[in-house]
Amino acid sequence: MADASTIVLGIETSCDETAAAVVMGGTDVLSSVVASQLDEHARFGGVVPEIASRAHVETLPQVVAEALERANIDVSRVDAVAATVGPGLVGALLVGVSAAKATALVLDVPFIGVNHLEAHLYAALLDEPHAQFPMLFVLVSGGHTLLVEMTNHDSYRVIGQTIDDAAGEAFDKVARFLGLPYPGGPAIDKASARGKDTAVALPRAMLNDGLDVSFSGLKTAVINYVRANPAISSDDVAASFQRAVVDVLVHKARRAARQINAKTIALGGGVAANSLLRSEMTRAGAADGISVVLPSREMCTDNAAMIASAGWYRLRRGEVTALDAGANPNLKLGAGQR
Ligand code: KG4
Ligand code: ZN
Repeated sequence: MADASTIVLGIETSCDETAAAVVMGGTDVLSSVVASQLDEHARFGGVVPEIASRAHVETLPQVVAEALERANIDVSRVDAVAATVGPGLVGALLVGVSAAKATALVLDVPFIGVNHLEAHLYAALLDEPHAQFPMLFVLVSGGHTLLVEMTNHDSYRVIGQTIDDAAGEAFDKVARFLGLPYPGGPAIDKASARGKDTAVALPRAMLNDGLDVSFSGLKTAVINYVRANPAISSDDVAASFQRAVVDVLVHKARRAARQINAKTIALGGGVAANSLLRSEMTRAGAADGISVVLPSREMCTDNAAMIASAGWYRLRRGEVTALDAGANPNLKLGAGQR
């Protein structure tokens, strides 16, 4: 149903990025357009769902048109339309899902509902489509922190997760406390480069305790330390915090990879753009003889190329979504999508 010449139009509207992309054969990105709503939400310090939905409605037609134009194809060349059906903000998701279904109906091509979490993995596989299984997929985003065992493309088993804050959420909350701009991850990444990562002794929770992680205590430890030591440089705090998060993630990933005999560790989600996480995970993989697959930085954060790619793999398995299917804001990894 899908081959190297099959063209998928992908649409992503699960949170605060309005994105469309055209991908051929699952990995050949002909175009990827991302319109960020960052400015509209920044003054609230986080994403406001109602503002997000409205901005998607206003921006999506233009973003889709631009994706087709940059791919230099007529819309009639599109073989299938894929959109994120969850997880995410329900109102935001429905904008992309409705647009994708309408487009599929008009073009008389299949509609494919895509799981946003699964798509983050395909961002890593865009450059490494032949990465080997078993694979440990480390998904670290603003909303999720998951260690996932993959024995094949359609086989997911969550073997570790956060018991409180997601990794990206911890970055965002600590950045906000330090007075750094939103979103916090990139700001902490930058500040860390100027700071000393041994300046503040911070906890590494549950380090030798299974595969789950916890970041809430770390955030509290940062806050308590800064309140007690107001003169500390925020670059030093940022660097120490980032080192603690990365230590935990790399340690748990190695342990999980050993447990499932992983041949590959693939990183995905916004936090996978973090400089220290990328270098430390690559170093750990080299030491353990496991290949580490990293998405390009722009493919770490939300985009539609990963949606189109995940859609292509589903289409290849003949998994087309019915047009009466809706969005699922709480969709889990590996859950049925029809
Ligand atoms: O995957 P994503 O774009 O959206 C979700 O699906 O959640 O991830 C956004 C998260 C935010 O929490 C942001 O602060 C974090 O990814 N992030 C980073 C970096 N770039 C983005 N965290 C650490 N270092 C970065 N360089
Ligand atoms: Zn995401």
